[in-house]
Amino acid sequence: MPVSYSMFFVIQGHIMLMKTCTPSSVLLVCLGNICRSPTAEEVFRQQAAIAGLSIKVDSAGTSDSHIGHAPDTRSQRHAKAHGYKINKLVARQVSADDFRNFDLILAMDTQNLADLQAIKDSLIGTEDNLAKLALFSEEDPTYGGDDVPDPYKGDGDDFEEVIERIESSAQAWIESWKAC
Ligand code: 4NP
Repeated sequence: MPVSYSMFFVIQGHIMLMKTCTPSSVLLVCLGNICRSPTAEEVFRQQAAIAGLSIKVDSAGTSDSHIGHAPDTRSQRHAKAHGYKINKLVARQVSADDFRNFDLILAMDTQNLADLQAIKDSLIGTEDNLAKLALFSEEDPTYGGDDVPDPYKGDGDDFEEVIERIESSAQAWIESWKAC
């Protein structure tokens, strides 16, 4: 059952509170923020636009190893071949503020999810209204519960598989929000 998010609208001077299950902001997270999550960021942005959903989309990594770097050139090449231009994206590390500023944070694999949960756990108790956390494949009828495998030490097929899984799982989230 998708979670509800609150949205505020001002109509003729009145503030209206509406419940929607479409988050207004989504952060995609992997380890380095140079392969999987920047690809997912652009796929998600394009799919949301096609579906007519207004969602702020960003990505980050749990590690600090690639802060300031452009996406891996192999990811850039494979993404471009599928119509996703990611060369201008810049890697950054996820922060506590991301849990305050995003509605939903999606982890590419279960290790990323555990690392994100540890950050969230450190904030719970002192703060509420923190981002909901889930595995990126959670809603996917084909790949549900699977990791998006880390392609960094892999070959071209691994980078292609990343795109296939990301397109499938992103579409599943979008469909789940359109349905409610
Ligand atoms: P990503 O891939 O988490 O999909 O960005 C990786 C990028 C770099 C490293 C590992 C995974 N690394 O070990 O540097």
